[in-house]
Amino acid sequence: MGNKDMVYLNTLELVEKYLEGCNGEQFLDRPTGPAAFAEGLIFGSGDKWKNNKKAFLKAMHTQTLLEDMEAAVQIELNIALDDLYQKAETGEPTKIGDTLLPACANVVSSFLLGESLPKASEDRTILHGIVKNLENVDLTSPLVQFSLKHPKLCWYLKKILWQDIVDIHATSGRLQRLIGGWINQIRQKSVDPTENQAQLIAPDSSSVDNVTPQVSKPVSDGCVTTEEYFQRHLGHEQSMNVNHYSILRRILAQPEFRQTEGSKDEELLQSLVDMFFGGVTTVLSGLEFILMYLSKNPTMQKLAQQEIAHVLVKETKNSSSKGNQAQNEITWSMREKMPYLRACIVEGLRLGCVTPSSVPHVASVDAEIEGYSVPRGTLVFVSLYSVHRDQEEYAEPTEFRPERHLDSEGNFRPPKNYRPYGIGARLCLGEALSEMEIFIFVAVILKEFTIVPPESKKASEMKTHMRIVHRLKDFECILSASGMEDEA
Ligand code: HEM
Repeated sequence: MGNKDMVYLNTLELVEKYLEGCNGEQFLDRPTGPAAFAEGLIFGSGDKWKNNKKAFLKAMHTQTLLEDMEAAVQIELNIALDDLYQKAETGEPTKIGDTLLPACANVVSSFLLGESLPKASEDRTILHGIVKNLENVDLTSPLVQFSLKHPKLCWYLKKILWQDIVDIHATSGRLQRLIGGWINQIRQKSVDPTENQAQLIAPDSSSVDNVTPQVSKPVSDGCVTTEEYFQRHLGHEQSMNVNHYSILRRILAQPEFRQTEGSKDEELLQSLVDMFFGGVTTVLSGLEFILMYLSKNPTMQKLAQQEIAHVLVKETKNSSSKGNQAQNEITWSMREKMPYLRACIVEGLRLGCVTPSSVPHVASVDAEIEGYSVPRGTLVFVSLYSVHRDQEEYAEPTEFRPERHLDSEGNFRPPKNYRPYGIGARLCLGEALSEMEIFIFVAVILKEFTIVPPESKKASEMKTHMRIVHRLKDFECILSASGMEDEA
């Protein structure tokens, strides 16, 4: 690529062989260059990245993590629903992404802060402006690369070329200042001497399995996978997080980010910015692909809606027979009872393939791949696109077929060739949040609405942007308030 050597790993076997275990240690780093923000969680390398990731993982390893995440997802979804009802009333084609984009950003902020930013607050408006600005950034565009390398020329370029070039440095700076404000507020409040510092720092080893998908291979030749390295170093103290300290507060308490005199928060701020860089357009794109495929396949959409209705009726009956107040809310715990919906989601993420080439890795030492020498500095890409469309695994891989993920009894069967969140120690940090967010958002949207495509174009004819984040171009649909007529 350009004047850089590049390797593309395009089968699951190769990806597992070279990005996990001992081999994976050689390709953990990210390339530096104009598009890289140098440090932080996504673009950081070496010990700095390890420390950052370790600190975030530790802060997130609490027994209440799933509860905290679900609260963030439910609150923001409810706010978004008001907007969607209004859109449904018009009966007109609508860009559902305009509502879901701020919702996805607010899920990340709510998750970090442990509470939703007030609805009409300045912070909420600023955050919305920032993610709107970042929504269409194409890091692979030569113009964007140039403006990243020469941020001061960005303004002139815009004038000369009459093009709208997003000033990524400035936008990232605005996000850093916003997050910096949240950090200051927490630090000012956290002078309470009774605060249980140990609890804020300690990970909860019992929940490691739940939040960190297992990517480790058995240790063979004395070499430790990076995942195991993290797990070993996370310690074994319990942290119940009974006080529901926010994740951001727990992150701030980690020794890696403890502020000392004269120290700056650069690593911390960039890592927090990365939670938004990594966790907004990706989830949005996944949601749009799933909703698009379901809108183009009304029979499948109906089946999913019937399944949701059926589960809700059963749950409501159960809770009223136990004397509990009947609820009509979709929860994360219901996913086990909704195999068809899960199959639709997995199939949408498989085909949509939100991050087709993952995020680039780089060889940090002279290495070898399948007998070919791979000099230090070579870019290593993972073609998740090829993994997801492997003909050996998927008959007619370009077709949307949720049934392929169900066994003969209708149980959900996780597919083998499916790695939307990457692989190895650089695995996505937001996988658990994203899985929950996508499940609850899709289930609730299908419960409330029927999604109709504006015109009868086939799904395969939908245009997409093939960037770091693969995104549908101008996805529109008509929402019609769903009567759930055919409830089971
Ligand atoms: C559908 C949604 C998402 C997809 C498809 C996705 C995919 C990915 C992929 C492929 C990687 C790179 C893995 C590698 O380098 O091998 C990654 C990294 C990352 N993601 Fe996600 N992601 C999603 C959602 C999220 C969310 C919700 C967050 C946080 C709120 C997040 C935060 C991150 C971070 C911080 C990294 C960097 C991890 C590292 O380099 O160690 N992502 N993601």
